[in-house]
Amino acid sequence: MSETMALPATALCRLLGCRAPLVLAGMGGVARSQLVAAVSAFGGFGFLGMVREPLALIRREVQAVRALTDRPFGVNLIPAATPGALLASQVDLCIDLAVPAVELFWDVDEAVVGRLRAAGITVVHQVGSAADALRAEAAGAHAVVAQGVEAGGHVWGRQPLVPLLAEVLGSVGVPVAAAGGLADGCDVARVLALGAQAAVLGTALIATDESFAHDAHKQRLVAGRAGETLLTEDFHVNWPPHAAVRVLANSVTRGERGDPFTSAPQVIGDEEGRPIHLFSTDSPLRSMTGDFEAMALYAGRGVDRIDAVVPAAERLARIEREAAAHLRLIAPVPEPEPLSSPVCYAAEMQQAWRTPLVARLGELLARERAGARTLFDSGARTPDPALRGAIGAALRSQTRMCALLVRALQALDAVPDARGAAAHPRAAADAGDVRARLSLYCRGAQEAVGEARALLAQLEGAPRAELLQGLDGHEAALAELRRHGAAR
Ligand SMILES: Cc1cc2nc3c(=O)[nH]c(=O)nc-3n(C[C@H](O)[C@H](O)[C@H](O)COP(=O)(O)O)c2cc1C
Repeated sequence: MSETMALPATALCRLLGCRAPLVLAGMGGVARSQLVAAVSAFGGFGFLGMVREPLALIRREVQAVRALTDRPFGVNLIPAATPGALLASQVDLCIDLAVPAVELFWDVDEAVVGRLRAAGITVVHQVGSAADALRAEAAGAHAVVAQGVEAGGHVWGRQPLVPLLAEVLGSVGVPVAAAGGLADGCDVARVLALGAQAAVLGTALIATDESFAHDAHKQRLVAGRAGETLLTEDFHVNWPPHAAVRVLANSVTRGERGDPFTSAPQVIGDEEGRPIHLFSTDSPLRSMTGDFEAMALYAGRGVDRIDAVVPAAERLARIEREAAAHLRLIAPVPEPEPLSSPVCYAAEMQQAWRTPLVARLGELLARERAGARTLFDSGARTPDPALRGAIGAALRSQTRMCALLVRALQALDAVPDARGAAAHPRAAADAGDVRARLSLYCRGAQEAVGEARALLAQLEGAPRAELLQGLDGHEAALAELRRHGAAR
């Protein structure tokens, strides 16, 4: 691929060993060996969707990817949706097979993250909130995927991708990828410009020749419109309760098939002898027969931009080409040229003002990340439920504060840099009593508000007033934490 059409490799690409920051979401049922191999061979990174799958299938699919490409790939598992014994053997198998990376989703299972990491596997965790991103990072995840509410399939959080991405980027030091509703080059360029280290594509890669989805599902995606998708708990059989999925509307979501929670079990399909039940989380696959219209037709909000079923490499090449072109238009301001003309001189003056502001905002962000880590650790350690609640509220405000600084950096066309644990010296060193830590935190956080106010005042244009207002909210949250006796 020519350089002008290629997306630049990010730190996450280097971690995963891929060329381009384009990741295939680990979609259960749909993301099998053919699609994973096609994405990885293209230069992106594919995750096999192996949630709840038996060991023989996982082994077969891993071997099939390896027969098709020598590029790295990963396996996706969901601990919360998998019986304990099966999960333990799935993890053992991934280790035995030396799978390069494993992506996990839903509740953070610290033990699973720890086992995989200790075995030398790169662990990626998909999250729906900054608090979960902090939890995944603390458990040892090497990278996180921020999943916005626009996503197809199971959706964990309720925040739209752009504000969620800012919160997660601001809160953790590991690389962050973005997922949810990304279907074309413009979407991908936007999240990369906001600081994501990769774009994760689900729905856009279901409608490809290689995906294991049944053609009926692919054709519904081609016909589907964004306004047609909805979040629903109607497809719940086989999953923990209160798990919402984003699907295209159908007879089930319109209530024409009865009450999903009280109706008698009804078989509507078959997969090689396994019955497929109405209201289950199964989506139509190549290996199934049955009443596809009534199955879960997973789709993200980007579905309106999917207009054909094409080879995966063709869709990825187009997305990459378009994203590279968009990025050239919206890329961060380049380093200043040497002084040579009045025009360049003006640019240089602008840099002279901007560069130290970006640097100071970056330093402040590193301190705010440390604050988020302190609160997260303190919450995990305190047995007092009232204090834990107050810490939780302060943590939500703290992650919004981190997001606010990320947005200030974005307003200056800068992206926050991913900083590892070394960026949290204060948090790492704090091992004392929870109230003493919180007292220290409150003092530091209050000082940081003052500093942020001074820095944000230098911002020009639209976001300044809104960001300054956000600081008022954070001060109120700090006062509330003190009121709970958290700090003496
Ligand atoms: C058909 C389908 C199945 C999915 N299955 C899983 C899964 O097994 N594990 C997982 O982590 N995420 C799963 N997801 C969510 C994806 O990881 C990702 O967040 C989502 O596809 C991104 O949104 P998009 O579909 O709009 O691109 C699934 C999504 C879809 C569409």
